[in-house]
This record gives sequence, structure tokens and C-alpha cells, in this order.
Amino acid sequence: MNDEDNKENESGSGISRRDFLKVSGISLGVPLVMGHRVIKVAGADVKLYGPGKTPITLEINGKRYPSEVEPRATLLDTMRNQLDITGAKRVCDRGTCGACTVIMDGHPVYSCSVLAIEAQGKQITTVEGLAQHDSLHPIQQAFIDNDGQQCGFCTPGFVVACKAFLDKNRNPTPEEVKKGLGGNLCRCGTYIGVRAAVLQAAKAHGAVKGGGQHG
Ligand code: FES
Ligand code: FES
Repeated sequence: MNDEDNKENESGSGISRRDFLKVSGISLGVPLVMGHRVIKVAGADVKLYGPGKTPITLEINGKRYPSEVEPRATLLDTMRNQLDITGAKRVCDRGTCGACTVIMDGHPVYSCSVLAIEAQGKQITTVEGLAQHDSLHPIQQAFIDNDGQQCGFCTPGFVVACKAFLDKNRNPTPEEVKKGLGGNLCRCGTYIGVRAAVLQAAKAHGAVKGGGQHG
């Protein structure tokens, strides 16, 4: 790499401005395969999606959902607008409020900040995946028992965040609960009820471990 390339690669991304310009110039001439082009950047294969729709399959609450999305579509918008899975709510749409929280491969994520194409191959759980038939998940029941909601708009995100939190910490202290749910905001201020709900659900011990099976 010459001095010019070094200077261009100061961002540390591994891709210089020259690489990017080369990619931009050639990408339209490379055939589409399964909705993406494979190009070489700095010697490595890179998948290039878009600008049109790309076929994807998402795995949500144990079901497979084939769909077609533009590469810029978020997981949240794809679930809500195309798959009719509307439990996760769109509030800030910028990763600050937690209303859109889902569990992806065991970790809570803001689905407004994950691209749908990135979510392929991951196991996604939304609030719809917690109850079994007519039986609420113990966390959902605990929210009801402890008045953990007012308008309820933040509640699906909170319930899912609680599930992810309790899966990792089955016997939390009140202080740990407060910190563990720090990524979710409630404009109605129902934090006391929410925290009490988490402690009640924690007492239901093993009943809150695992996904979708009241486990
Ligand atoms: S809508 Fe995703 S964090 Fe607020
Ligand atoms: S219950 Fe209204 S925003 Fe939380």
C-alpha cells in the first residue's frame, strides 16, 4: 500500500477511499446472485446489497418468514409493516427508548437499530412469542399483578427486556433490576411497578428461563 492509500485508510476500516470508488464503479457490472452482488474489496469477498429489494428469511418466535426488503429496512419496520408482527413498538426509532426491544440469539436488541438483512439466521423472540396459547408468560402475568403499565406503549419492550435480563440473572437484587432495565424508558413513569414485576417473575425461578416455553 502506498502513502496515498495509507492516508486514505486512516479511518481504520480496512477499506480506503480508493477501494470504495473502485467498488462503486464496478458494482453495477457484477451480476446479482440471490439479491446481492459479490465483489472484491481489498482482496476480500464482500456482499453488496441493493438498491432494490433483496429476498430474506427471518426466524421469529420459532417460525420462518420469507420476505423481500430493501437493504435499508430495519428489523422493526419489516416486522411491523410486512410481517404483521406489531408487538415491538416504534417510538424514537433511534436506539434510545427500548420500545422496540426483541431478543436476538439470546441478547436484547433495539430492533429499530438492526437491519432486517443482518437479522437473517438469528433466532428472534418478540413479545408475541412469550405467551403459550391462553397462558401468559410469568413475566407478563407479573406486569399485570404489579401494575407495571399505564398507557402500555412501552410495555412489550419492557417485558422482552425483562425476559432477556432474567435469563441472564435469575436472582437479581433490586439495584441490579434497576440497572438491568436501564435501556428502556417509560414516559408514564411506571418504573416502580416494572421493577416489582421483575422481582416477582424472578421468584418464579426456573419458570422464566429459556424462550417461548415459559422456560
Ligand atoms: S424505537 Fe427503537 S429504541 Fe426507541
Ligand atoms: S406505560 Fe406508558 S410509556 Fe410506559
